Amino acid sequence: MIENEFEYDFENRMSAPEYTPADEDIENSLRPKQLTDYIGQEKVKENLSIYIKAAKQRGEALDHVLLYGPPGLGKTTLAGIVANEMGVNIRITSGPAIEKQGDLVAILSNLEQGDVLFIDEIHRLNRTVEEILYPAMEDGKIDIIIGKGPSARSYQLSLPRFTLVGATTRAGQLSAPLRDRFGVVLRLEMYTPEELSQIVHRSAKILNISVDNEGAYKIASRSRGTPRIANRLLKRSRDFAEVKYDGVITSEAAESALGSMEIDELGLDSIDRRLLMTMVKNYNGGPVGLETISAAIGEESVTIEDVYEPYLMQIGFLARTPRGRIVTPAGYRHLGINKDNTDNTQQTFDL
Ligand code: ADE
Repeated sequence: MIENEFEYDFENRMSAPEYTPADEDIENSLRPKQLTDYIGQEKVKENLSIYIKAAKQRGEALDHVLLYGPPGLGKTTLAGIVANEMGVNIRITSGPAIEKQGDLVAILSNLEQGDVLFIDEIHRLNRTVEEILYPAMEDGKIDIIIGKGPSARSYQLSLPRFTLVGATTRAGQLSAPLRDRFGVVLRLEMYTPEELSQIVHRSAKILNISVDNEGAYKIASRSRGTPRIANRLLKRSRDFAEVKYDGVITSEAAESALGSMEIDELGLDSIDRRLLMTMVKNYNGGPVGLETISAAIGEESVTIEDVYEPYLMQIGFLARTPRGRIVTPAGYRHLGINKDNTDNTQQTFDL
């Protein structure tokens, strides 16, 4: 019975920060093209603008850049901005899409001087493909072997100077030789509600949506620090505003949209609450291992680590200890559960 109550349609999870095909057109129209239009990530912007200026002054390609941090924070957008500000083309691909050495050789040999090659999820490149990247990044050369056995021959191909922009949610999973070849390593942070509010206003203007300050702030404060989620919630709130609230996203209109999506006042959705609740009910709040949580809630452990945990840790509801994950006292309070009360009947959320 509980299984069914917990059933969840992942495709429709509004507050999932991962990219889905439904985000494509809206993300593309909303992506800022210049650093000055990019809201938040002040430290990253400041550093990048200096490196870009310096590379341009010297007439060189920008050094290779590694961007890391949770999904949905704007890594692809930043790569596009880098290419635009450098005045070069960008070629976008991802770790899992490059299956064979030949795939990467084909991409690299088509690059032009100074181009940006963006590899998303770069930690998922396989090792043999990665080995092609080392000399390519270091001295613009690739070694290819043609043929097999005694007749195999090795050729060296010279590439134009290019900039690799790698993005990953898990810098720790990158091999040391790859990590060491990035001259610039930048960590993206979650956005504040104030920054997200500015992003909501900017997006609303581009999409021709009316939103007032309170409505924008309400969406912003429930978007888990993530622009991709804020933009998605903006679109859904527009539907509610148009049908029920005279077309303007007021605080009330946003509230009604968010309520219908079961997104609570901190932006947690039913999966977040279920994760916490399972830990509390089945494992007394932890410590409990990642794999155990994964089996209990039926989500992959990498998804839990990359998608759910960053925000729950950021707001201090979940902590990692050497013995496993624990729900913090603040997490208990949010669920409306008294840690010392074993019958746990005070929960306030329907899961
Ligand atoms: N849209 C998505 N992320 C953004 C950002 N950081 N700044 C402006 N618009 C955005």
